[in-house]
Amino acid sequence: MKDPLQTAVEMALASGRIQKDSLKENFAIHHKGEIDLLTDVDIACQEMIISVIKERFPEDDIIAEEKANLFEGDRNRWIVDPIDGTTNYAHGYPFFCTSIAYEVNGVMVIGVVYSPIMDELFVAVRGAGAYLNGNRIRVSSVQRLKASLLSTGFPYDITTNPDNNINHFIDFLYEAQAVRRDGSAALNLAYVACGRFDGFWEIHLNPWDLAAGALIVEEAGGSLSSISGGTFSVYGGGVIASNGLIQEAMTGVIGKGPSGRSQRIP
Ligand code: IPD
Ligand code: CA
Ligand code: CA
Repeated sequence: MKDPLQTAVEMALASGRIQKDSLKENFAIHHKGEIDLLTDVDIACQEMIISVIKERFPEDDIIAEEKANLFEGDRNRWIVDPIDGTTNYAHGYPFFCTSIAYEVNGVMVIGVVYSPIMDELFVAVRGAGAYLNGNRIRVSSVQRLKASLLSTGFPYDITTNPDNNINHFIDFLYEAQAVRRDGSAALNLAYVACGRFDGFWEIHLNPWDLAAGALIVEEAGGSLSSISGGTFSVYGGGVIASNGLIQEAMTGVIGKGPSGRSQRIP
């Protein structure tokens, strides 16, 4: 009997090894869009992960970022981002990870996020808690937005789509203690889960960015909602994730819509 948890962890660690080893070498960088990059290392990690899944779980579906979506019904589903933080990876900025989630009958049951440079493995199993390198983690206990460190990210069509999160970013700069933008949604969620960030939001994300990290937040005692404050779904695009204590305040800032502060900035 193959164990999906063990498999997810093995694949994430192996993917991290490929990423670390390949950083020392020259790898090719391609463009999916003007600022949307794809490296040969994304492809190598994804191919390795898919071959392991196909060998051990041939009946399962796979959603993986680099165009390898294998749907054949309502079977169990792996949701994979081989490198979350590809722009960082391409520049040698050490904030990137592999994100792997496992969904059974529509319920996310396993989430694994591995950051190879920090050698940090975040794991959650539904109903069994969230762990960082084997130690149980919990969200922070910060109660006020003014005392909160938040993070966010921006879509690749930032210059052509007016719904690009810049207004919300400016509003949170005024409302929070500080806001970071460091280029990996899955790691940002894992950092909310272990209390380094108090909250994270982003408006246009894909299931492979969200699936593992969202379960890790949930199992660490955090809260998740859609960007409008409704029920969260990894297939819904956006997310507000927090320690729960600042969730309403975050939803309020986004719900107010653009405050006009951006217009007042010279
Ligand atoms: C991106 C990262 C980034 C987020 C983007 C994502 P990628 O994923 O998670 O932090 O702001 O929206 O697309 O392209 O590095 O896998
Ligand atoms: Ca991603
Ligand atoms: Ca990616």
